[in-house]
Amino acid sequence: MDYTYEYFCKSAEYVREKMGFTPEIGIVLGSALGPFAQHVEDPVVIPYEEIPNFLRSTVSTHAGDLICGTIAGKKVVCMSGRFHSYEGYDFDQLTAPVRLFKLLGCRAVILTNAAGGVNENFKPGDIMVINDQMMFCGFSPLRGKNLPEFGPRFFDVQEMYTPALRELALSCTEDSGLTFHEGCYFFMQGPQFETPAEIRAIRILGGDAVGMSTVTEALTAAHCGMPCLAFSVITNMAAGMLKEKLSDEEVNEVGKKVEERFSAYLMRVLEKM
Ligand code: HPA
Repeated sequence: MDYTYEYFCKSAEYVREKMGFTPEIGIVLGSALGPFAQHVEDPVVIPYEEIPNFLRSTVSTHAGDLICGTIAGKKVVCMSGRFHSYEGYDFDQLTAPVRLFKLLGCRAVILTNAAGGVNENFKPGDIMVINDQMMFCGFSPLRGKNLPEFGPRFFDVQEMYTPALRELALSCTEDSGLTFHEGCYFFMQGPQFETPAEIRAIRILGGDAVGMSTVTEALTAAHCGMPCLAFSVITNMAAGMLKEKLSDEEVNEVGKKVEERFSAYLMRVLEKM
């Protein structure tokens, strides 16, 4: 389906009226990172199902609320619960969250996700600041009729993960109690975890972490000219790297273990943005 500019404006009008302020930063919280939203002061909580022309969360570990308020002195709108292609959404539907941020007036986006570590130097619990991405399955979310109100038909993505924001993020890591890396996020559609052969191929191609989200949101931000900062929480080593089975429980468990430190770190980054 081709969506119109007005289609997206309808969601924004509803949210704008409910939240009652202009946000500076839009944040997408990934698997098991939802509790970050508990730090939002004076929150206005808007369930996704109330928002006209918006999507619905179908994953039980993803809450499904827009949480608007102040955190680390910044006015933010947080998506507690995100949308994935494996839920059955088309890639073009996945433009909706970042386009909503843009229409609300956000000047930057922060994306977070849980990912499998492909780089042999990574460990579960580490954080990767994403500096590039690869997506070889699925279509661009910007496929179809271009909406020039958001951005041009053809657009540059060499600095889609904004260098200045990456630098800022890496300057805040001291005393975080976390180990940081920079690297390339490789998108796989899921919902199955990858095969060991796929992971070997991803490593040869240059992927450092693998996951099932984020790339459509980053591309949507690049299209509408919004600076983007993104983090992967490495919740497990990718398929074939260790003997253990991969599971959603393991992903959520490691996510929970770092959640507090990562939230405190993210607040320091937000303060400086
Ligand atoms: N693969 C894909 N997505 C993921 C993984 C993984 O190993 N871990 C967390 N999200």
